Amino acid sequence: MKKIILFDTTLRDGEQAPGYSMQTEEKTEIATALEKLGIDIIEGGFAASSEGDLNAIKKICDAVKDSEIASLARASESDIDAAEKALKNAVSSRIHIFLATSEIHMKYKLKMSESEVLDRIEKSVKYACGKCANVQFSAEDAFRSDRKFLKKALETAIKAGATTVNIADTVGYATPEEVKSLISYLNGMNNREKVKLGIHCHNDLGMATANSISAIEAGADHIEGTINGIGERSGNAALEEIIMALKIRADILKAETKADTKLIYKTCKLVSNITGSRLPLNKPIVGSNAFKHESGIHQHGVLAAPITYEIFSPEDIGMKRSEIILGKHSGKHAFQSQLEEMGYTVTPEEINSYFEKFKALADKKKFVSGKDIEAIIHNNTADLKLNKYSLKSFVIQSHSQGAYANVILLKNEDFINEYASGLGGVDASFTAINKIIGKNLKLLSYSLNAVTEGEDALGEALVKLSDGENTVNGRGVSTDILEASILAYIDGVNKLGL
Ligand code: KIV
Ligand code: ZN
Repeated sequence: MKKIILFDTTLRDGEQAPGYSMQTEEKTEIATALEKLGIDIIEGGFAASSEGDLNAIKKICDAVKDSEIASLARASESDIDAAEKALKNAVSSRIHIFLATSEIHMKYKLKMSESEVLDRIEKSVKYACGKCANVQFSAEDAFRSDRKFLKKALETAIKAGATTVNIADTVGYATPEEVKSLISYLNGMNNREKVKLGIHCHNDLGMATANSISAIEAGADHIEGTINGIGERSGNAALEEIIMALKIRADILKAETKADTKLIYKTCKLVSNITGSRLPLNKPIVGSNAFKHESGIHQHGVLAAPITYEIFSPEDIGMKRSEIILGKHSGKHAFQSQLEEMGYTVTPEEINSYFEKFKALADKKKFVSGKDIEAIIHNNTADLKLNKYSLKSFVIQSHSQGAYANVILLKNEDFINEYASGLGGVDASFTAINKIIGKNLKLLSYSLNAVTEGEDALGEALVKLSDGENTVNGRGVSTDILEASILAYIDGVNKLGL
């Protein structure tokens, strides 16, 4: 079996998509989850793009020891210097240089000739090699590049010392056959055996996963992608799909990764919760319909033998098929062993805080399911550590002309009480919170979803808030949708550090 190197760019390309920005703490949490999942290389960000990105990469380097950490850099000395600075404390690091090789990009964007591009590749890769043992060169817009020139560009990078060369289908233009043909062609480049050859696929035509698999079939060593396929425009290749495709079709692909597939679901949920982007129901691998069978024929088949309609089991990705049910009489022990069975490792303080939330929920709901527990856990890594405001109580009155809200928040030791009116209960309570914090935050998006089924389902509210400078996602869960909305808003306020 050939070992495929997984390069995750959730924290760089994923974050580049509009509305997906993440806080440093959130990035570190995701990086730690990626390390546990078994990702070989984690691209922590683009150090030269902002002080925030540079610091986030530094924090990731402090927290992650088993995966290599990469920073993106343009082919310039100042970008490479910033990457070096960010990666200083990494156990293993990589400077990832990119430059476009297509005529379109060279003419309209770079305004550089072919020889200027080759010269820039040579100089930047050589410069980076003086600073880091692992230097990757990626050819941007490789699939709209002239093949011979692309090959020359990669050969130049290899000669200058690059340890990985990578071709990016930047605009998601390639087809699987084309990928196979280009990788086979590049296998013939000078010094191919000295480097790893990789691919980075975008999903504009919905072919990112297929193209990545095609590259593996043709001999690529390194595959790039993101969790849940998030990324610029229609996103990147979804790593969870590639990992499972390699596992399930090892018979023909003859390649494997070192990913622990049992951590896939947990990692995908974490990224979904942190970015405030819900997984589509029909998302391959982790969508909530992935193991649901509606038609009688399918149900009959699955009951007789799951293999009839399922090519892998929920347990393979760390999801539970049978719902565990706890109730208000369940003790801390049962709750803790349930968490462990669901794959969570939690500190004693976290257990206490989660158990308190579980008890509060069990008082309102007859049965607490695995999905409810997940909602409790994912609701608040942040609030255990840095919350400044918390909800004390609220009263909302709604009528046909609008609504009126009274919200009381606890800030440090003080209760702050405010009233506001609005178009509805949510609007009125958000305005009351704005009065409490003394800021007019902009609500960029708001959505509400049921986590579980039934009348006493937990409602999950997601908000995207901006204070004009930063944008954050806030999340709240409760059996009451107004409370969930208020909690989501407060979560956002705390993340903004107001
Ligand atoms: O899509 C792209 O071209 C990229 C490069 C920076 C590798 O993300
Ligand atoms: Zn990209």
